[in-house]
Amino acid sequence: MTDHDHHGHDHDHDHGERYTGDFDEMAKTWDADPAKVERARIVGALLPQRLDLGPTARVFEYGAGTGLVSQVLAPHVGPLTLADPSEGMRAAMAAKVADGTLPAGTTIVATNFDAEAPGDDRFDLVVTVQVMHHVADLAPVLAAFATILEPGGHLAIVDLEAEDGSFHGDGFGGHHGFHRPELQAQIEAAGFTDVRFEHAYDLEKDGHAFPLFLALATR
Ligand SMILES: C[S@@+](CC[C@H](N)C(=O)[O-])C[C@H]1O[C@@H](n2cnc3c(N)ncnc32)[C@H](O)[C@@H]1O
Repeated sequence: MTDHDHHGHDHDHDHGERYTGDFDEMAKTWDADPAKVERARIVGALLPQRLDLGPTARVFEYGAGTGLVSQVLAPHVGPLTLADPSEGMRAAMAAKVADGTLPAGTTIVATNFDAEAPGDDRFDLVVTVQVMHHVADLAPVLAAFATILEPGGHLAIVDLEAEDGSFHGDGFGGHHGFHRPELQAQIEAAGFTDVRFEHAYDLEKDGHAFPLFLALATR
């Protein structure tokens, strides 16, 4: 299974309930795809190399799915808060906390900044992998990230470089990846500085490589 499978059977969906429903179903087999596990391992390993983290760093992962990226980050950071609007994804994460795959004390929440304002909890790193292309309006979500980060905290976004739409296929209502300068301007408009991009990973689909960037920024 690949990230785009959930778009193949429903050609008029956008960012509503059906998205969560699809991810609920996909959660059951998400970790059975070695490509998803490897993607998380590669991009998760980049962050401790680039950022000054450590055992006191409070991490918020947005759209965490089954928690694969946070599993990789866990030995390098402090307390984890994992957010996903999909109940199935949250159940998969809860099972991992129960069996020790994710650290005891990990917090799992349903937070969806498309629809809700940030609460009072504050973090040192916000990370989000392959989620922002599903977010219709980036501005409120980026603003929420800025709100929940302490001054000097880090934002890390991994997502698709701009593509021609073939990654998701017909009927996908989200973003066809991102042009770096446009995303940089939106990140800066949300109150971040020191925005920098690098190549993070090549996602294979039908023999074609879709590059993913890592965007880092400072609150
Ligand atoms: C492609 S999966 C990536 C999961 C995980 N980050 C990973 O790298 O394996 C996208 C995840 O984002 C969540 N999601 C979809 N739309 C979202 C939105 N608008 N806001 C927050 N999360 C969203 C989905 O429930 C799903 O778990």
